Amino acid sequence: LAVSADKKGKTRPEVIAHRGADDRAPEETMPAFKLAVEDKVDYLEMDLRQTKDNKLVLMHDSTLNRTTNGKGDVSRYTLKQLKKLDAGSWFSKKYKNERIITLEELINRYGSKTKYFIETRLVDNKLKMEEPLIKLLYKKGLIKKKKVVIESFSAMSLQEIHKLNKSVPLVQLTLFKSKKDFTNKNIKEWKKYAVGIGLDSSLIDKQLIKKLHQNNLKVYVFFFNAKNEKSEQKRVINVGADGVFTNHINYTKSLMKSS
Ligand code: G3P
Repeated sequence: LAVSADKKGKTRPEVIAHRGADDRAPEETMPAFKLAVEDKVDYLEMDLRQTKDNKLVLMHDSTLNRTTNGKGDVSRYTLKQLKKLDAGSWFSKKYKNERIITLEELINRYGSKTKYFIETRLVDNKLKMEEPLIKLLYKKGLIKKKKVVIESFSAMSLQEIHKLNKSVPLVQLTLFKSKKDFTNKNIKEWKKYAVGIGLDSSLIDKQLIKKLHQNNLKVYVFFFNAKNEKSEQKRVINVGADGVFTNHINYTKSLMKSS
């Protein structure tokens, strides 16, 4: 896992399409990923949820309410039932009847043409998706080809994946509200299994990035609390972030060109 280099060999932060091109198409659907692939991002970012029949589908929320015409927990439905839902109309009429997709469908479509930044979660507080995920990525040859990073807010999930496979790079996502939480004790623990940390842009400054870099941890930034994501992107890139989970791919790419 390395920061990317531009044509002149200068390193630049990685452009990670948060939930696909989620500003132009319904998040985590095929059109959102297609646009991001066409924009040649470094990674497609996505969230896993497990269905009642143990299939791995791409959806951020635990429930269907916000991004489909269904209701209730994703985990209460089989894939066949979920495939009947409209996962596009909430975003715009243009995407009416877009379907929820599985991780395997996305991989079948793009294979090693792109890279995947995949978020795991505990299911009912249990480790359930880790083994099927690693099996799928292994079967598709994506781990060997270095096409995948796995991220999670759950340390348990990442530690389980590390047990199953030592070569897939892992990123520990954090929800800390203060820089003080990046203690030496926490850092020591993360280094046992992770290559990087994900955190909100509000905590990013030169000093924190330096501390994480000195510990060989890369820094990936998301923008939940940013009033102005674009100016925050510019700022965190300037202070040395290794990657941004962008909701504005074209803007992020324009920053790379001008830097
Ligand atoms: O994926 C990185 C960061 O955006 C995590 O937050 O809630 O979008 O999965 P979320």
